[in-house]
Amino acid sequence: MSDDKLVLVLNGPNLNRLGKREPAIYGSQTLADLEALCVKTGEELGLEVSFRQTNHEGEMLEWLHEAADNGYPVVLNSAAWTHYSIAVGDACAQLTAPLIEVHLSNVHQREAFRHHSFVSAHAKAVIAGLGPYGYVAALEFIAAA
Ligand code: DQA
Repeated sequence: MSDDKLVLVLNGPNLNRLGKREPAIYGSQTLADLEALCVKTGEELGLEVSFRQTNHEGEMLEWLHEAADNGYPVVLNSAAWTHYSIAVGDACAQLTAPLIEVHLSNVHQREAFRHHSFVSAHAKAVIAGLGPYGYVAALEFIAAA
């Protein structure tokens, strides 16, 4: 598949713990389940999905720089960094292709510190509270864009 169909689906800290982590909030699906869903959705939509997760902020910054340099669309769940990382926000500001911010939970129903995002100002759209379907919706939007 050609490079112009590549989408980066980037996940931040603690998302490797999905399935075990606070299932009442994040559900029972594991990160591997989420990856399989995104890859399958991408195949159906004619997109090549590069699905990644990291607990290291510098690695996330490098992936965002890669997306900026190559014009790749990004589906980003930057997890807790969303709420306090100016560096992640600054990296998102460099993106030129659509950026969709995704959260599994509805962050606006939760603690006040989750209501602010350093990503949203740079995102085409924000999806929060739809669980794994939020990733599917983001990929569908990117395929149609
Ligand atoms: C999250 C919401 C964040 O507030 C939290 O820090 C996460 C996951 C979500 O997907 O709902 O780690 O981004």
